[in-house]
Amino acid sequence: MRHFDYRNGELYAEDVPLRAIAETVGTPVYVYSTATFERHYSVFADSFEGINALVAYSVKANSNIAVLATLAKLGAGADVVSGGELARALLAGIPGQKIVFSGVGKTKDEMRAALRANIRVFNVESLAELNALNEVAVDMGRKAPIAFRVNPDVTAGGHAKISTGKKENKFGIAWPSAEAAYAHAATLPGIEIVGVDVHIGSQIDQLAPFEAAIEKVGNLISRLREAGHTIKSFDIGGGLGIPYGDNTKAPPLPAEYGSLVKKLTRDMDVEMIFEPGRMIAGNSGVLLSEVLYVKNGEDRDFLIIDAAMNDLLRPALYDAYHDIEPVKAPGPNAEEATYDVVGPVCESGDTFTKGRDMPALEAGDLVVLHSAGAYGAAQSSQYNTRPLTPEVMVKGDRFEVIRERPKIEEILKSERLPSWLNRSPR
Ligand code: LLP
Repeated sequence: MRHFDYRNGELYAEDVPLRAIAETVGTPVYVYSTATFERHYSVFADSFEGINALVAYSVKANSNIAVLATLAKLGAGADVVSGGELARALLAGIPGQKIVFSGVGKTKDEMRAALRANIRVFNVESLAELNALNEVAVDMGRKAPIAFRVNPDVTAGGHAKISTGKKENKFGIAWPSAEAAYAHAATLPGIEIVGVDVHIGSQIDQLAPFEAAIEKVGNLISRLREAGHTIKSFDIGGGLGIPYGDNTKAPPLPAEYGSLVKKLTRDMDVEMIFEPGRMIAGNSGVLLSEVLYVKNGEDRDFLIIDAAMNDLLRPALYDAYHDIEPVKAPGPNAEEATYDVVGPVCESGDTFTKGRDMPALEAGDLVVLHSAGAYGAAQSSQYNTRPLTPEVMVKGDRFEVIRERPKIEEILKSERLPSWLNRSPR
């Protein structure tokens, strides 16, 4: 069941007309559906029924604390990559024991905060990081639970900028060095080895790369156990793709992914950890925007909307496709048009799509960009001094603002003139 759908000629988020949100909060605005978050989480978690599994939602995909708290209520853990994300997860009520800490550049302060929060595991990406973690833990009189993120050199993922499991990527311990890394870790007083971790990429639209990675890691786990290490958990990362409405191959269903994981790990005797981000958040949100102008150019027509690349960076950064629909349902005889849909930012890259066929629109019409719940608001910026896009959560027939639109004065308040300019900015 879709929770962003037309009713009586208008696009709704659950039981709320998007027009009502635009009128109350203004545009551009991100709108999320509680029911969709809950459904995606449950479908994903249910596909691992019967095995020992922790679903650690990847906070980077959509880190609003309302989103985290919605998932926490369903039992979700969190995959965090910074002290900031750790603070959010804890604030949203996710217990430390359900939090895993990933990322190539953890600082000692972040390590200390994570140890204080008693997190489940640090996914360690280099020996240098391991040694730093050991020092911090010894200093605190603690043992840090670790898994090495190993780099299985598997090709996966939709775009070069989001592929992570190849040997040329910055992530993980190089495959040939993995066993030596574990041997070194076993000698450190502040370190407790608990598992193995991989993450091979994002927007993966086939099962084969997961299969290859699981098999490789399964063999590694056997070798590590033979060498005397205790391996309790196998974190397989995130990466399962979602449909974006373009004509590319449909990604595997969570149930298919779940069956594959269950089949391949049956005899491994491990707790599985998953770090899904996009799969949970992507299709749980839309970016709602208003058409500012239709500009008839020399060889093309531009639909200039009030959302821009600072609000949703994915098309500019990855040439990502997002479905665009008008909020008012086009009638049966609606006129068609072909647009480049662009934002107001002063860069040609501020283009959501080129030459897209869609119903003809005019200034004042509302549109949504679909599949914007993951890596949308989370990657937004204030470029061009455009205030961060507010976020709204819908539940049934209710909606509430979960991140406010900052006022221009608030944005400017944190900036200072240096003393030598000798003038108060305000
Ligand atoms: N775990 C780790 C260690 C990761 O680096 C990521 C994503 C995930 C889990 C979650 O992956 P997912 O299930 O969402 O595919 N900004 C890009 C995607 C970057 C993904 C970065 N890492 C985009 O908008 O497509």
